[in-house]
Amino acid sequence: MCGIVGYIGEADVKEILLKGLEKLEYRGYDSAGIAVLNDEGVVVFKEKGRIADLRDVVDEEVDAKLGIGHTRWATHGVPNQLNAHPHQSTTQRFTLVHNGVIENYHLMKKAYLSNVEMASDTDTEVIVQLIEKFSQDGLSTIDALRKTLHLIHGSYALALLDKEDPNTIYVAKNKSPLLVGLGEGFNVVASDAMAMLQVTEQYVELHDQEIVIVHKDSVEIQKLDGSIVERPAYKAELDMSDIEKGTYPHYMLKEMDEQPAVIRKIIQAYQNEQDELTIDANILDALHHADRLYIIAAGTSYHAGLIGKQYFEKIAGIPVEVHISSEFGYNMPLLSAKPLFLFITQSGETADSRQVLVKIKEQGYPTITMTNVPGSTLSREADHTLLLHAGPEIAVASTKAYVAQVAVLMVTASAYAQAQGKTLDFDVVKELGIAANAVQTIVDSKEEMEEIATEFLATTRNAFFIGRNVDFYVSLEGALKLKEISYIQAEGFAGGELKHGTIALIEDGTPIFALATQQAVSLNIRGNVKEVVARGANPCIIAMEGLEEEGDRFVLPKVHELFSPLVAVVPLQLISYYAALHRECDVDKPRNLAKSVTVE
Ligand code: M6R
Repeated sequence: MCGIVGYIGEADVKEILLKGLEKLEYRGYDSAGIAVLNDEGVVVFKEKGRIADLRDVVDEEVDAKLGIGHTRWATHGVPNQLNAHPHQSTTQRFTLVHNGVIENYHLMKKAYLSNVEMASDTDTEVIVQLIEKFSQDGLSTIDALRKTLHLIHGSYALALLDKEDPNTIYVAKNKSPLLVGLGEGFNVVASDAMAMLQVTEQYVELHDQEIVIVHKDSVEIQKLDGSIVERPAYKAELDMSDIEKGTYPHYMLKEMDEQPAVIRKIIQAYQNEQDELTIDANILDALHHADRLYIIAAGTSYHAGLIGKQYFEKIAGIPVEVHISSEFGYNMPLLSAKPLFLFITQSGETADSRQVLVKIKEQGYPTITMTNVPGSTLSREADHTLLLHAGPEIAVASTKAYVAQVAVLMVTASAYAQAQGKTLDFDVVKELGIAANAVQTIVDSKEEMEEIATEFLATTRNAFFIGRNVDFYVSLEGALKLKEISYIQAEGFAGGELKHGTIALIEDGTPIFALATQQAVSLNIRGNVKEVVARGANPCIIAMEGLEEEGDRFVLPKVHELFSPLVAVVPLQLISYYAALHRECDVDKPRNLAKSVTVE
């Protein structure tokens, strides 16, 4: 989704901005631009497509030490050069980049800008034109910005240049993430610390409804009412090598390969000195006082939440509801007397989940965020955080974060059960270790996964994934992986449900991926496979060792049944990867998608 960078200092700003935007490419975007300011004025370069396309139009001769940049994921107006950011006011005095959505931009246009001819279809242009209008009415830039922010409704992270003030970047934030980075003789702005890690590790987080006046040697944070805010900087705990691809052709492949290490890291991170798995005592306490856990998440994180429900109910005895965040906030169910909310979000920035968190906090209920990004918005705003320890996930398709989510859900449910005095009939550390080894075996079987992708998915238009019990939830995730990166229409189903309608879609050769990891329903899923095979389907059965039968396409190394989601998802990720490769899709940056979905 949209990204922002900004720099003010002594270096050539163009390269710093372009490199910063390249680091944000993984978030998904369809156009990009930069604006630089020097004594002669502002120069804007923008282009539809990739940063490489933007590089082609940037004039190397322009020399400037101050500038802002943006990657745009279209919300208002098609992705084209005109709608790309930065946007300028009519006189070109003000230049702005913006992430987020201004909900009342039509009203603002009508009320204040009826005589202004807009150059784009974006809500963003309204902000910059309002600033110009109020400045022409006699307000200083900061007051014009402040007045504009009082009037607009919605989400924004923005950076503003004023042609008449070549020593300042004005910054503001509400609901969309934004950071200010500090350096010696320079300062930066970034929607994600990763973008500016090339120049600094020191960041100051911004809160909603704050404005920042950024000079090259000072940073002043103000509230909207003008009062000054003091906030210390923190060190971004990110290793550049974590965010480089190394020798891998794609981040997705690297991240799938990292999954065994991620499981082992989670064991270490949650183990105490006695080698027992444990979690924050405040979270144990919150679980203890809850009569029901509400898991709120989107996409892959929602699929992990479905597995989490099994863990909390079966291991910890806590009733759980799992909800899609974009639905929950606007159609809230009747809550239990003592609800506890668990937000699962890899990025910690998903706007759909955050709108629920804001509403839930208003109602005074306790909240936990399970995230991969310490310091992310949902982590800061929830009462407690459970970290995934997966390391930065760059590919849009989530793989290692899903495995980390399932593992941390298992750790949390079992640590709570043990804290309540329950004796588990399995050793969590040992079973996680076995699962890590099993995942290693699977990621080492890439050739076989590639063969399966070729055999089943080379020419198909669609594919189905089925499973029962937790295998059903893994099927949902397998289908999401395949469709998002290969554009093959794929659906996950409970094995018994196909015959209630969807079986009508089965034709000669339709690929069906069936998971068989659960003994109690092993015969049932095989029955479901027979039903579709009788109608021409081409089955690819992936079974757990001990449950395999002749003709199964891949046998998963044996793990405890409750841990099978950690393992069964991995062949589905790899098969999707190779299917996408064969179709020459952009695996890491699939069309229309963003890594961090920061608009509702
Ligand atoms: O950062 P989050 O976990 O909140 O993101 C939620 C979804 O947008 C995300 O899982 C999405 O479905 C992935 N692209 C799936 O691979």
